[in-house]
Amino acid sequence: MRLGRTLGSLRRAIFSQSLPSTPSAHSSARFALFNHHLARARNTGSRVRCIHTIPKPRNRLQELESDLLTQAGSAETAKLELKWLREHAEEEHRNQPPGPERDQCVADCLKQLCEERAKGTPIQLLIGNTYFGDLLLHCAPDVLIPRQDTATQMEWFFRRLNIDETSFPSNPRVLDLCCGSGCMSLLFAHKFGQVAGNKRSASLTGVDISAKALELAERNRQHLLSQNSSRSTMETLKSLKYIKANILDKEHYSDAGNPELSTAPLIYDVLQDQTFDIVLSNPPYIDPRTELDPQVRNFEPSLALFPPKSLNSNIHAGDTFYPRLLEVAKAVKAKFLFMEVGNMEQAERVADLASRQSYWTGRGSCGVQIWRDVLPTGSSVDLREVCRPLKLDHNDEDVDFADLVPVFGAGEARTVVCWTREACSWLDIFELGITLSGIQIIGHKEKRRCS
Ligand SMILES: C[S@@+](CC[C@H](N)C(=O)[O-])C[C@H]1O[C@@H](n2cnc3c(N)ncnc32)[C@H](O)[C@@H]1O
Repeated sequence: MRLGRTLGSLRRAIFSQSLPSTPSAHSSARFALFNHHLARARNTGSRVRCIHTIPKPRNRLQELESDLLTQAGSAETAKLELKWLREHAEEEHRNQPPGPERDQCVADCLKQLCEERAKGTPIQLLIGNTYFGDLLLHCAPDVLIPRQDTATQMEWFFRRLNIDETSFPSNPRVLDLCCGSGCMSLLFAHKFGQVAGNKRSASLTGVDISAKALELAERNRQHLLSQNSSRSTMETLKSLKYIKANILDKEHYSDAGNPELSTAPLIYDVLQDQTFDIVLSNPPYIDPRTELDPQVRNFEPSLALFPPKSLNSNIHAGDTFYPRLLEVAKAVKAKFLFMEVGNMEQAERVADLASRQSYWTGRGSCGVQIWRDVLPTGSSVDLREVCRPLKLDHNDEDVDFADLVPVFGAGEARTVVCWTREACSWLDIFELGITLSGIQIIGHKEKRRCS
């Protein structure tokens, strides 16, 4: 009861600090932190008790706590952060024999951690891990810290996925483009294992350009393999490969001398003729001119946040990857594409791009949807309650599409999904794409509102 109240007010405090209409990497740092607190609060147990052995004067701890206040944003969060850092300091010196010498080492370590945190280092990097859905994953400098927003969208995807549907592949092939820490492919392996019987497994490939990201993704894969998971998850994890490639097409962006971009192998050379059923991607999508929280700008790798400039002047500064993702997904014959975006304006541009491609919007029940941050829970959903179709401004005569994109949920737009006719029965919400005309049409902008 007490825990519920504490976490509830912490959630409110953290949400009230996030700014509207900012890219995910900005606001979700706090959401990820909340999730981290929540998940660790559930899992700490015995380790918390041994912390009380640190002989620290009460006022010294209060001093450390106040050092954390600026970054943590509230007294409650600072208290929790101090608790996690103390656990971590204890853990680091776990093998030392108990006694005053060890206590001193723990106290010095804690002081150093608090100093780092006060300078803005994200708590996940200090502790070395974070939760992504139910998974506890390693984090490392120079690799994006997985965001809970992304996990929430993937969990919604899984809740609505009919893997027993006859057209759903018994052993789906999944491509995770811009895989970073491996979080999306690893969560896919975990979730698929929960819903598929022991006879089914998925075949996953993760692609990234950063050697550090690939190293961390492999470490996370090994870490999950060492845990007791379902047979399906273990089989999927065993076959999961992380490979280095540049997803972008060199002719369409300026690499500005970035050696990672100019020397990496190209995606089509690496994938060759492989095909995939599902493509997942959380690409770099922040316009470099965006004002970001210093915790994100100073401690997250710019390679993961900001895309290089597109040479096509019609492509908005944050959007360089999206035309390429649509193209790669089509080239590998994907039937379902899941792309994270930063906000509604970006979602609208990406949905617009996708809806102009007959591969995703040709005749039949294929299409495009936008999912917002807060998605409906429960298995039965009244679609009229949760969906507000967005009317795209298609003036071109050659666009053969209803020009309506269903927008699900509340809050900031987070994901654009596209599917082909083969995948229309995989998720139990896709029928909506063809029954929209019976629903009140409300775009997210006043000027597009109609009834
Ligand atoms: C926003 S991060 C997403 C990481 C992970 N999927 C997640 O959700 O946490 C984007 C990733 O794209 C990678 N990346 C950037 N440019 C790339 C390129 N041209 N080709 C392949 N990967 C790239 C970065 O290294 C980074 O790991």
